[in-house]
Amino acid sequence: MKVYTKEELNNYELSLTYDDISLLPTEVSQIKSRTDITIKSEFLGVKISIPVISSPMDTVTGITMASELSSLGAIGIVNRFDSSLKEIFSNHKVVNSDNNVNGIKAVSIGLNSEEELIEKLAERKFIICIDTANANNSSVLKKCEQIKKKYDVKIIVGNIASGSTLKSLVDAGADAVRVGIGGGSVCTTSVQTGIGIGQVSSILDVYFTRKEQRLKIALIADGGIKSAGDVVKAIALGSDMVMLGRMLAGTKETPGEVIKYNDQLWKKYRGSASFGVKMKSEFIEGEETMVPYKGPVKNVINSISDGLKSAMSYMNCLSLEELQEKAKFVVLSNSSYIERLPKK
Ligand code: IMP
Repeated sequence: MKVYTKEELNNYELSLTYDDISLLPTEVSQIKSRTDITIKSEFLGVKISIPVISSPMDTVTGITMASELSSLGAIGIVNRFDSSLKEIFSNHKVVNSDNNVNGIKAVSIGLNSEEELIEKLAERKFIICIDTANANNSSVLKKCEQIKKKYDVKIIVGNIASGSTLKSLVDAGADAVRVGIGGGSVCTTSVQTGIGIGQVSSILDVYFTRKEQRLKIALIADGGIKSAGDVVKAIALGSDMVMLGRMLAGTKETPGEVIKYNDQLWKKYRGSASFGVKMKSEFIEGEETMVPYKGPVKNVINSISDGLKSAMSYMNCLSLEELQEKAKFVVLSNSSYIERLPKK
């Protein structure tokens, strides 16, 4: 069996995703307790306790989710369809000591967002996420450049599937980029357009482009993350953060109602390019579905934290940087993958 470094995995002949690979511990772990391990880091100047950022989708991140994630040491990006931010600004509601609303750290905007909103976000030092399906677009780059010229603010752009245009994004002033096209769990982009590559290959390609071209931009693995194990893989592959949609969908803090159906509790989860969001017969690239109600988001974040720390203990790593440096991988056969899953 071949054991791969990140470099070697990047040269693998096929496009790979999370279920195709597994991490391989290769050292005797010296770690006595998981409490010796830290998963703290910094993202665009914000100190965080766990490298998780919520997706700016209307069924994932509203103000309640963003505030709760902030208090848990993660980051939430309020969706651009959420009108409550505007209301807060217009009603002059209280802002906290950082001049932010309820500890919210990031807000998404669209290409057509009003200048007044952008100005207010910039004044309050929110991280701004330009939420588009394709960052490789001159309008997105122009928007990013305009905002960066006018305001002292950090900007996340997205999405990209490979590193081929990374330098253009950095030149436009982007501070972070969402990596992944076609991998989202409610995404139909690949089916509709034939575009997109496996998430593992996407992350590695962008990671090595950044390294080779010595670019300064943070990487967010976005889409297709189903479990704490996938979070560990995404970070070990070189992502600075993971962006979660479905893993956080269905929790108490997401916008929307809990529905009781067939004796079970559910919440809605839908793509930003789904019919329900667009409500017109444009090109639809997203699905709508129901996910089981999960209770407080704190439980999900804690289970990710436990998974990361346990993995780092197996791998003899005390910090996320060490995990990224040391990580060794194997490519799984289909039967090996199935063997890894718990049986009923
Ligand atoms: P998940 O965590 O696998 O559910 O993926 C969430 C990600 O899917 C988001 O952060 C977006 O990048 C992507 N996404 C959200 N809505 C859509 C859509 O309607 N079409 C395609 N991709 C989407």
